[in-house]
Amino acid sequence: MNTEDFIHREEYYGAHNYHPLPVVLSKGEGVYVWDVEGKRYYDFLSGYSALSQGHRHPKIIQALKDQADRLTLVSRAFYADVLGEYEEFACDFFGYEKLLPMNTGAEAVETALKLARRWGYVRKDVPENEGVIVVCSENFHGRTITIISMSTDPSSFSQFGPYTPGFIKIPYDNVDALRRVLAEEPNVVGFLLEPIQGEAGVVVPREGYLKACYEACKEHGVLFIADEVQSGIARTGKLLACDYEDVRPDILILGKALSGGVTPVSAVLADDDIMLTIKPGEHGSTFGGNPLACKVGIAALQVVKEEKLAENAQKMGELFRDSMSAFKHPMIQEVRGKGLLNAIVTKPKEGVVAWDICVRLKDHGLLAKPTHDHIIRFTPPLIITEEQMQACLQIIKDTFNEF
Ligand SMILES: Cc1ncc(COP(=O)(O)O)c(C=O)c1O
Repeated sequence: MNTEDFIHREEYYGAHNYHPLPVVLSKGEGVYVWDVEGKRYYDFLSGYSALSQGHRHPKIIQALKDQADRLTLVSRAFYADVLGEYEEFACDFFGYEKLLPMNTGAEAVETALKLARRWGYVRKDVPENEGVIVVCSENFHGRTITIISMSTDPSSFSQFGPYTPGFIKIPYDNVDALRRVLAEEPNVVGFLLEPIQGEAGVVVPREGYLKACYEACKEHGVLFIADEVQSGIARTGKLLACDYEDVRPDILILGKALSGGVTPVSAVLADDDIMLTIKPGEHGSTFGGNPLACKVGIAALQVVKEEKLAENAQKMGELFRDSMSAFKHPMIQEVRGKGLLNAIVTKPKEGVVAWDICVRLKDHGLLAKPTHDHIIRFTPPLIITEEQMQACLQIIKDTFNEF
């Protein structure tokens, strides 16, 4: 079978809820992936930032294999010898008292929403069913009905209603809007935000925004909930994007790189006062905290620390932005990001749009994907070396120069 055959089969039997670039991958290692024809590419999407440790990191794969030979699933009906080990490790790693394990980012977001509502009812005396969570415009937190109820993007929410009530949407990067809503609405239990909006096109808020929002939340007894599913775990050049402003979220949501792209692993972290408001039998997941996830999660976080991925993301990110900002091209409107969470905002030229650039980048051996039609996200694995980054910058510039 060749590339066209694989694509045809996927299109024929699979739901059409994605629009992939026309490339069929069959192998990955480090920063590279190979297609079914044997062509090698730099992966500049990294599973939407899940593959921060690179494809098939040997340490993570070994942890997976070792655990696969012992025990894969317990369900939470019983204790497992590795769950406590993982929880202790991750709580120490991120500085929280408790962890609640889930699988996908969306599940962890749902968990955080439930936790915030429950906390509001039992600790803040908000009347039951009246808790409000404030969210930001252009957010992306996942795809469940409740999560799309918070979305301002019609392609996420339209014709999927009726929607879950209990959310107030305010503009992103606008602390006054938050202050206003907190002053007017006594039943707010939490403020949920992405410290950098990933899917919106790598939107970096003004310096001081996170801190000011955190302080406004504290003033009003509202939980500051950070969705660091995409921005967290060294992606932006620090362990958490919130670390840039020394903000410690009351509820921290993690996913993606928590497994290095190996299995779906997500988590919610909080202190006892919040986490213990959910009691046995009130929330859970068959696969959440499974032994494979636990061992993979520990190994994935160890790699982040041992290989100093935050520092490398910081350095390589600066190199990327400096180099691309200095490169002038009529289709490049803006280069932005933090660490290795970056995007180039493009302008169409004679009918050529971001998608065409991405197809041509693919032809030249680099995989990146547009978000919102005109923005191209560049998020390579954080293990990328300077030599590899220089080679990639050359590919990107050469590609733009063809238009
Ligand atoms: C900030 C953020 N939150 C949540 C999610 C949802 O994660 P998942 O696709 O694992 O459900 C994503 C996915 O891109 C994300 O970027």
